[in-house]
Amino acid sequence: MKFIIEKDYDKMSRSAADIFAEHIEQNPSCVLGLATGSTPEGLYACLVKDCSDGKISFSDVTTFNLDEYCDLPVENEQSYRYFMNFNLFDHVDIAKNRTNLPCGIKADDETCKNYEQAIEDEGGIDIQLLGIGHNGHIGFNEPSDSFSVITNLVDLKDSTIEANSRFFDDISDVPKRAITMGIGTIMKARKVVVVANGQGKAEIVKKAFFGPVVPEVPASVLQLHPDVTVVLDDEAASLIPKD
Ligand code: F6R
Repeated sequence: MKFIIEKDYDKMSRSAADIFAEHIEQNPSCVLGLATGSTPEGLYACLVKDCSDGKISFSDVTTFNLDEYCDLPVENEQSYRYFMNFNLFDHVDIAKNRTNLPCGIKADDETCKNYEQAIEDEGGIDIQLLGIGHNGHIGFNEPSDSFSVITNLVDLKDSTIEANSRFFDDISDVPKRAITMGIGTIMKARKVVVVANGQGKAEIVKKAFFGPVVPEVPASVLQLHPDVTVVLDDEAASLIPKD
């Protein structure tokens, strides 16, 4: 695992965006795995800037997002499709029909299988972006007694519903279920980039990347991946061993 530690959120975002920008430059028809949440917003802003400055083009890029809430129409401002359009897709030269998110409206086993197949049909994910939940979740793979393998339906933990309620008017509006790439899907990505910032993530960063690999901390499985870069700001890195 490689760690890049930057002074603050803006520098962390730029540094992580550079990894993606370089990859897109070198492989214009690459397949990106993308994440939502607060953490990658700055990274997406950097990529939008790079694209409008003419440094990179998304015209041949394909994307697969990690996850989507169940039962939220895509027009809903809290849907992950809305987030991705708002933060990235509407501002770069990407073909929308090459941007994929799991369908949270028709969320059943067939949808999960089809999503997995669609990723395979594109040759797999070249570089996967991940945030990390306070409980160690990646995508919506919640702490559990086993690692999920493929795209699957999940009941969200109360702690995740609570954390995500900040985006909704009322906690009762937060969907209770989601559809997510599995841990196995994520582990098949050829390269993984994790971003985390702020003191609130310091404890879980230490636990996930320096503690035992256990399904109770889903992100800990990344210790077994051959090509992971973790990009942190000083605060998120404050509890990790310094040598
Ligand atoms: C979202 C996702 C989640 C988030 C995690 C951290 O697509 O996959 O696992 O990455 O909940 O969210 P933030 O960045 O809001 O702290």
